[in-house]
Amino acid sequence: MWGGRFAGGPAAVMRAINSSIAVDRRLWRQDIAASKAHAAMLGAQGIISADDAAAIDRGLDAVAAEIAGGQLVEDEALEDIHMHVEHRLGELIGEAAGRLHTARSRNDQVATDFKLFVREAIDKALAAIDALEDALLDRAEEHAATIMPGFTHLQSGQPVTLGHHLMAYVAMLGRDRSRFGDARARLNECPLGSAALAGTSFPIDRDATAAALGFDRPTANSIDSVSDRDFVVDYLHAAALTSVHLSRLAEEIVLWASPQFGFVHLPDGWSTGSSIMPNKRNPDAAELVRGHCARIVGDLVALLVLLKGLPLAYAKDLQDDKPPLFDAHDLLMLSLAAMAGMVAELEFVPERMRAAAAAGHATATDLADWLAVAAGVPFREAHHIAGRVVAAADAAGKALDEMTIDELRAIDPRIGPDVLPLLSVESSVAARRSAGGTAPELVAAAVRAAREARGRR
Ligand code: ARG
Repeated sequence: MWGGRFAGGPAAVMRAINSSIAVDRRLWRQDIAASKAHAAMLGAQGIISADDAAAIDRGLDAVAAEIAGGQLVEDEALEDIHMHVEHRLGELIGEAAGRLHTARSRNDQVATDFKLFVREAIDKALAAIDALEDALLDRAEEHAATIMPGFTHLQSGQPVTLGHHLMAYVAMLGRDRSRFGDARARLNECPLGSAALAGTSFPIDRDATAAALGFDRPTANSIDSVSDRDFVVDYLHAAALTSVHLSRLAEEIVLWASPQFGFVHLPDGWSTGSSIMPNKRNPDAAELVRGHCARIVGDLVALLVLLKGLPLAYAKDLQDDKPPLFDAHDLLMLSLAAMAGMVAELEFVPERMRAAAAAGHATATDLADWLAVAAGVPFREAHHIAGRVVAAADAAGKALDEMTIDELRAIDPRIGPDVLPLLSVESSVAARRSAGGTAPELVAAAVRAAREARGRR
């Protein structure tokens, strides 16, 4: 298709390194859609005849039907999906096919196709985030009052509710959704009509092609249009951070499913066995979500490095933009689906969580808080007194709420009997009613608010 000035053909390795059809065949639907919009515009503008435009349109439908039927024959000599489609169109409709590439270049064509693909990938990611959020909301509602240890430094700090812990991931996913939404809004300008890099002398109508393809408007600068891959970076950044969030949840599932924690039982559907140790029940899906995150972050880095130092406008380096995007998209969709499935089906073990929450005198802060509020002791001193109570409880082999009032008063006479009921883990979480806190009724309200917010979208 570009051989006019060449006497010899490309070397075999040249052909191999140049060919991208094995990767960019995934853009065929977008390529056909963009070509149909372009041909219709050329016809409407009188740049090609109405007959040619109609023949091209019918021909593209026929090519699409063939590809959908699995009949795309890959040929390295035809380089990429754009040339495969156009070549087959030529075989089907003859000379009119040669007019499709009027006022167009593969440079604006590939930018347009890829934007259409990424836009769809964003919509799929958003739907998958919603599905994971649904699973988290259901489990958070179910466990709004289930006690578990809240950790800092992976040491039990204060009791929290499992629902509240799960809602932390809903908060992360909310930001992920917003990042994908930003990426989508920024991406939605159409490069088609920028041609090779300078625009075209034909009287094209870029507003028409932009509207036909669901873009908000045409891009502003033809040079930028064919060299810009910010939209790929935006997608990959949103995907990488979403995947980091999934990886943190995956890590928690791995920890919680270990016999040492025993906070969750992984149902058979989400466990694998060991070929040598019959006792094993492995959280492979969670581990792979954690592993996939490394690859998605790598995909983001690959794109950033690809663009760095690239002079304007198009250079063939840009052909290497697709593998990282496809890879990240596939991995993210699998990860989101696996997390949604695991979260929905995890069997939590509330007794183990409660026992772990009660261990280690996790309500010592409640004692200090009581001393500060009810006895007027400055918090720093209250903290010190509570620390001595912890030491005494340890020495007596008791939990804080098992200490007698006499034992407590021996440490500080200002401690009154009304503090005792506050030292249970249930009282501790119920007391944490400050906005955004862990109290069960706040968790239930947060679940309701998240569902209402979804209804408004
Ligand atoms: N396959 C190419 C890509 O993905 C299409 C653009 C080719 N443009 C060119 N000037 N050779 O980037």
